[in-house]
Amino acid sequence: MIDAFVEALPNPVLVIGEAQRIGAFNTPARVLFPILATGQRTLPLVVRSPDILDAVNRALQGGSAETVNLHERVPVERLFKVYVAPFHTEAARFVLLSFDDLTDAKRTERMRVDFIANASHELRTPLASLLGFVETLQGAAKDDPKARERFLSIMRDQGRRMARLIDDLLSLSQIERQEHVRPQSQVDFSEVIHQCLDALSPVAREAQVILEVDIPAKLPIAGDRDELIRVVENLIENAIKYGADEDGAQTRVEIKLALKDGQAHFSVRDHGAGIAPEHLPRLTERFYRVDVGKSRAKGGTGLGLALVKHIVARHRGILRIWSEPGRGAEFSIEIPIDNAA
Ligand SMILES: Nc1ncnc2c1ncn2[C@@H]1O[C@H](COP(=O)(O)OP(=O)(O)O)[C@@H](O)[C@H]1O
Ligand SMILES: [Mg+2]
Repeated sequence: MIDAFVEALPNPVLVIGEAQRIGAFNTPARVLFPILATGQRTLPLVVRSPDILDAVNRALQGGSAETVNLHERVPVERLFKVYVAPFHTEAARFVLLSFDDLTDAKRTERMRVDFIANASHELRTPLASLLGFVETLQGAAKDDPKARERFLSIMRDQGRRMARLIDDLLSLSQIERQEHVRPQSQVDFSEVIHQCLDALSPVAREAQVILEVDIPAKLPIAGDRDELIRVVENLIENAIKYGADEDGAQTRVEIKLALKDGQAHFSVRDHGAGIAPEHLPRLTERFYRVDVGKSRAKGGTGLGLALVKHIVARHRGILRIWSEPGRGAEFSIEIPIDNAA
């Protein structure tokens, strides 16, 4: 009876009897404590946390229900709230242990806190600089037209940087809000790319980057036009910014679009310095940059790839990143052309 009851519970559950023997447990408990599968039934050999063992002892000796935190570090970091509650039948006294996994909730909470801290910090830096120059203009540089020109131009750059940040933050929150809704409209992906190329060609020329473009005349897909423009723009812009030669020699960036098995394959390949493997998994995190100074100097906000990732996810596509230090990088996406599935 107890076995069937315990098995019906969703969380990992153990029932402990006399002398800390494990009387019953369910499948989630076996997943959490693989040693149970070997027939081990003594609680201290399964759960090593002294806090939990003490709580179980208190409960077995007549104490009342309590909750204890369990922080596991191996094989992966996990946090549980463990409910330790005594109960008894006519014959004996037992303790129920129920494990509530708080790992995801904690991680989400930490991400939210980090995000607010990062966003505030990113905005505060240009703001401090703006205020500093305002004071200088009111004081020391009041009657110096040359300095005024220079400071005003720095102030305009800082103001623009704040505007870009706020723009990206708003886009990010808007896309996150709609991420579960697939875009319905029809867009010509080729045309989207052409529009971005028109806007970015002067930037490429300036950086001595030759854009080699290989795209079909038309490739209609189900998508959101503005969002796809953001994706294409961000990837090509990154390839120009981070793929250009430091010494000003000419380099190429290859931009391709093709239809394969019902998927639109879009890729941007550069021949720049590339990205070390330890950075690759983190590139799409908000505000993650390999080199913060370099990104800022080129007008980056560190939100571009986070936006790309969310937009691609909303289109039920995938984003792949390949890079080898010294050999450049390739960012490619695959998006289903119709959203019937
Ligand atoms: N093509 C690339 N080559 C090398 N590094 C890149 C490339 N694209 C992106 N990165 C790295 O990824 C970081 C994050 O990119 P992104 O989210 O677009 O932010 P931003 O461009 O605003 O810095 C960049 O700061 C850069 O370090
Ligand atoms: Mg970028």
